Amino acid sequence: MFSLTRRAIAAKSQAKRKSSTVAGLASRSMGSAAQQSAIGQYSGQKNSQGMYEVTLIPGDGIGPEISKSVERIFTAASVPIAWESVDVTPVVRDGKTVIPDEALQSILRTKIALKGPLATPIGKGHVSLNLTLRRTFNLYANVRPCKSVPGFVTPYSNVDTVLIRENTEGEYSGIEHEVVGGVMQSIKLITRTASERVARFAFAHAIATGRNHVTAVHKANIMKLSDGLFLQACQEVARDFPHVQFDEVLLDRACLQIVQDPAQYANTVMVMPNLYGDILSDMCAGLIGGLGLTPSGNIGRDASIFESVHGTGPDIAGLDKANPTALLLSSCMMLRHMNLNSFADRIESAALATIADGKAITADLGGRASNTQFTDAIISKL
Ligand SMILES: NC(=O)c1ccc[n+]([C@@H]2O[C@H](COP(=O)([O-])OP(=O)(O)OC[C@H]3O[C@@H](n4cnc5c(N)ncnc54)[C@H](O)[C@@H]3O)[C@@H](O)[C@H]2O)c1
Repeated sequence: MFSLTRRAIAAKSQAKRKSSTVAGLASRSMGSAAQQSAIGQYSGQKNSQGMYEVTLIPGDGIGPEISKSVERIFTAASVPIAWESVDVTPVVRDGKTVIPDEALQSILRTKIALKGPLATPIGKGHVSLNLTLRRTFNLYANVRPCKSVPGFVTPYSNVDTVLIRENTEGEYSGIEHEVVGGVMQSIKLITRTASERVARFAFAHAIATGRNHVTAVHKANIMKLSDGLFLQACQEVARDFPHVQFDEVLLDRACLQIVQDPAQYANTVMVMPNLYGDILSDMCAGLIGGLGLTPSGNIGRDASIFESVHGTGPDIAGLDKANPTALLLSSCMMLRHMNLNSFADRIESAALATIADGKAITADLGGRASNTQFTDAIISKL
């Protein structure tokens, strides 16, 4: 079963696909804004036309195509949102890569953004724009839910994980240097402040979404000081939430258990340092049918940015082949964060029903439809 390739899984899925009702959407919930603690809460207001202003970063590669799909679906569903589209092509100021001022001001004003993927060239001298955004807006918690789509058959039908990734430090601190020729050093930075902040968010999120269980994922047996501090911060925060169950698990054990039986993690919110969250969330995405289906939200104190987990899809960019589901589900997380739950439920149900139906799905899911045809099918189900 585990040796199935993605293509084989998709073909198998298509053969077995059957129509089904759309089950509970709770795992992709952000909890209502009112339920959440003050951390990361949305504080935007409607404008004089009764619309919430949201910054839209279409992004690179397939980004503009999937952003267009979301815009079309939001218009069809009469979501009370006015998009403010901004370009975040980086500018260099004082030798540093920074976000253009117009984009910065837009996000600071709207406090919320939907973002398509951004390309990061590999090699010297390139600072990831995604990292720049996370640092600029102090987006400290990355929420990544991953839930099997009813009716879309993969080897696993019971995946329902929620993973919260520390988003500002750890292995992504960007502190690297050459010790001597042939010896490189990369520093993993863990601070009590950032660990406590993300742990507190995980507990608040567990309460808001009714999971009532937090699991810290770590490697404190090996990285005794850095992961040790992260774990200690989680343990300390747990004492402030006596009604929320808390436990801890080693990263490798968590991976093994999830692929053996994902249901073991269906009632908990996993919280972990940066790199572990990056890898574990892609692993979970693989269990439900791939990166085209997995959304995420970057939560910060002053702003929140929602985005798909996948990248710019350079191999299919401009071909109208991209699956817009991940960005669309990210936009539904965003709507719930804004307390616009009924719009989110309606859009998410239409998208999941379209996938379960299987008649107009994109190639990554085993279908033949274009992005435009898939988007049309979702709109017809609204
Ligand atoms: N958050 C982000 O902005 C983000 C995240 C990951 C990667 N990236 C960037 O994206 C670029 C490309 O990265 P990559 O090729 O490693 O990963 P990728 O996610 O762009 O692509 C991996 C594979 O998945 C497919 N794929 C991805 N999204 C899809 C979708 N919505 N529909 C259908 N197929 C889809 C692609 O066609 C490709 O075959 C890099 O510059 C990387 O830095 C950005």
